Formats: sequence, structure tokens, C-alpha cells
Amino acid sequence: QSEMPRANAPGFNLEHIEHSNWLLEKTNALVEKQYQSYSLINGQAHTGTAKPLHSPANTQLILGEVVDADEQAIESAVTSACLAQATWNNLGGERRALILEKIGELLEVNYAELISLISREAGRTLNDGISEVREAIDFCHYYAASSRQHFVVPTTLTGPTGEVNELSLHGRGVFVCISPWNFPLAIFVGQVAAALVAGNCVIAKPAEQTPLVAAFTVNLMHQAGVPKEVLQLLIGDGAAIGKYLLSDPRIAGVAFTGSTETARIINLQLAQKPGPIVPFIAETGGMNAMIACSSALPEQLVDDVVTSAFLSAGQRCSALRVLFLQNDIADRTIELLKGACDELRLGNPWELNTDMGPVIDADALSLLTNHMEKMHAEAKVLYEYDSAKVPKDGYFFGPQIVELKNLAQLEREVFGPVLHIVRYKTSELEQVVNQINASGYGLTLGVHTRVESMAKKIFRLARVGNTYVNRNMVGAVVGVNPFGGQGLSGTGPKAGGPLYVRRFATERTYTNNV
Ligand code: SER
Repeated sequence: QSEMPRANAPGFNLEHIEHSNWLLEKTNALVEKQYQSYSLINGQAHTGTAKPLHSPANTQLILGEVVDADEQAIESAVTSACLAQATWNNLGGERRALILEKIGELLEVNYAELISLISREAGRTLNDGISEVREAIDFCHYYAASSRQHFVVPTTLTGPTGEVNELSLHGRGVFVCISPWNFPLAIFVGQVAAALVAGNCVIAKPAEQTPLVAAFTVNLMHQAGVPKEVLQLLIGDGAAIGKYLLSDPRIAGVAFTGSTETARIINLQLAQKPGPIVPFIAETGGMNAMIACSSALPEQLVDDVVTSAFLSAGQRCSALRVLFLQNDIADRTIELLKGACDELRLGNPWELNTDMGPVIDADALSLLTNHMEKMHAEAKVLYEYDSAKVPKDGYFFGPQIVELKNLAQLEREVFGPVLHIVRYKTSELEQVVNQINASGYGLTLGVHTRVESMAKKIFRLARVGNTYVNRNMVGAVVGVNPFGGQGLSGTGPKAGGPLYVRRFATERTYTNNV
């Protein structure tokens, strides 16, 4: 049983005509709107040379202007956040929980504009946007409940002599939150909300590809009552900002979501920085697999594979990368998958009938193109999406299916809509799980079977954070599917789980013999 109260945001359903009409009316009215993204130092825009930001769906579509932080902005952000730390920490868990709930309300009020901005800036479909705003709202309410549970009343521990001990949680100091472009709202809000509610001041550093969603959201957070000194926003290139920010001895912790390679670089910078040893909370990539045994229901399997591999153009850390198909069902499943891929429509993400938007930028597109060239040389390409149906104005890449001999043929995570398939015999099930474990990643795993003992066995053997049986393996729900991996996939704790906020805090024991 869950120890936390739960009430997830209702969201809305685009299959209902009144819901879709409402959303399209709102988002269409925002088509021309221009946004600006500056670093916000004590709520003030840090000005400088502005550069235009275009949409990944259409490189001619300019969304607004962005100004990168310089060294002086970084210094001011850290200094001001340090000065605000004690007051914010002393405000207490209840007052901070109320502010988080207010952020959740403001996200709800701005639902349509956020979805519109997410689709234009990050190329995510309307349905992706809906679930992303819901997740962000859920994080606010869930972490507010977490704060009330753990930060308001200390835990009393009585010793054998009657001595009273109180264990309490406190903010650590100035926390740096580094978030990715693939969930420009949900992960951004999740990290910042957790760090704030635990009593930390925050320096937020969103991905350079999605500064507009981040600046819009920080303004909402300030409106909701987060003091401007307590939450500082730094816009710009990760390596350039990280060089100064992560070597600052005043930094008390870092939360990061992104690639495993970047996590290693940050970890090294933190190890070398002067000052205290600080916690590093990393959620990184995955070499996520699904195992489909011969008892799997074909239509359900295909539906769940398509969602897991191609939703959000495969740009989720949870997405399916390698499907292990039991030999008896392999040929039939592959035929069904090819047919399903033909039906996927690539297009502008803000249009209702789009199934897949673009990938995030030119670099992502060229990594995928290079990967497919390699697959043509080294593996068997089973399916390529019809290039005539691929829009030419942005960074679009259609779904592809490749057959491999084993998972080890994949050297690194392929972050996009490429599904790899490996066939196996039932007697090889343990070797399949060994291949998955040997990758060193451990984020999500799908299992399709009607034999529960097989699912349980796979769960026991596989070293992964989230195992999903007979469903797709993306879209973890806050408070329902606490999300996060192990090994090369991250440090834990799980986002949207009962332990998450506590990791942002420090514990103190008060032993009283007065
Ligand atoms: N939490 C997301 C999902 O489950 C990935 O970051 O798809």
C-alpha cells in the first residue's frame, strides 16, 4: 500500500470533441506569439546579445529570443541564492507545501499555453503535452504532500533511558537542477519543486534547446510565491555554465536528468570542486528492452511496442530500444509492426492528427541517420519509413526497425524512433536477461506473457528500475509508478516516489536531556 496520499491531475482527452476544440482554439490563437528567455537573477532579466530560437518542427518558425548567461550572471545567481537560504529553510514544510500547491494551480490555469509552447519548442505532440502538464501538476501536489509528511513534525525516537531524540529534515543549501529538453516542463518542475520544498534555494539550468518553457514556468513559480531570490534561472549552454557553476564551493547538491555521458562529467566536476562533498541525483539513459514470449497477445503486443518505441519520436529515456521476440511469434509480430509503422503520421506536433513530431535538433537527426547507415552495414534493416511521407521543413525522422543478433551489437543508447529486434528461443530466456543486465543500464523493462511465473522470474533476474508487464513501458505516473533506474541509468531515488524529496534534504538528530 502506498504511504502517500494521491490525487492525480485529471487532464483531458483529445478524443472528446469538446476537449479538442477547446485546446485547438486556444493553441491556434498563440501561433504567432513570440517569447523571450533570459536568465532570471532575483527575478530580473539578465540582458545581453539575443539570438533567435526556431522550432524543431519548422526551422523557418521563429519562436522568440534567447540570451545566454555569462559568468557575472552565474556569480550573482549563486550569491543571491546563498543569502536567501536560511529564511527559505526556516519557512517550514507546511508553508513551502502551500506554495507548491499554488504552482500546481497556476500550471493548470496555463494548461493550453504550456501545451502550445511545448509542442512548438520541443516538438512534442498535443497528447505528449497534455500528459506532460499533468505530470508537472502531479509533482507539485505529490511533493507538497511529501513535505507535510516528512518536514513538518520531527520523528521522535525514545531511547532506553527515556531520553528523547528528534530526527528532523532540513534544506541542504543551494541546489542546482539541470533538466533535459525531452520533458521541458515535467522534469524541470519535478526537480525544482522537490529541491524547493525540501528547503533548498535553487539554481535552475534547463536544456539549451528548451529555454522558453523554462522561463515561462519560472515566472509562474515566482507568481505562486516562491521568492525571486530563492529560485534563480540560468539560460545557456550546459558545458559553459557548468564549468563555473559546478566548481563553486557554495553549491550544496545537484539534480540532473540527461545522458549518462554528461552525468559522468558532472560527477567528475563535483568530485574536484572545493568545499563540501555534495549529493548528486542523476536520472540518465537506458538500453531498455521488452521480452515478448510466445503466449503474448499479438494485437496488444504490437500496440504496446509501437507506443513504447515511437511515442514522443522515441525521445524518452523510458522508451523501448530492443524487443526480444520469441521465435514462434517473431515473423508475424514483425509483419504487424511494419503495418502499424506505415500508419504513423509524421507532422507538425501542434496538429491533432500527428502521431510523431520531429526529433529535437540537427545533431539528433544526424546521430540517427549515422546509426541507420551503420545498421545497414552491420545488421538487417527490416523496415524504413517511406521518406516521401517525411516532412522536410524540420528535423523529422520516421520510424525504423532493425534486426540484431544480440543486444551487445548496440554500443550506446539510440535516442529516437529506431526499434531493434532480437529473436530468442524459450530455452534462452535467462541468457536474454543476462544480455540486458550486461548492458549496465537498468531503467525500464517490458514483459509480454500470459504466464505470471515467467514475468516474476524475469523481474527477479533483471536489474532494472521499472518493469511493466502486459502494457507499454512509458509514461510513469506520479505516485503510481515511481520512476528511475540503476547502474548506468542513474542513482535513484525515484521521481514521483515516496523517497524522492528526502534525498534533497539533510537529516539532523536532536538528543534532549534537559
Ligand atoms: N518518466 C518518463 C516516462 O515514464 C520518462 O522520463 O516515460
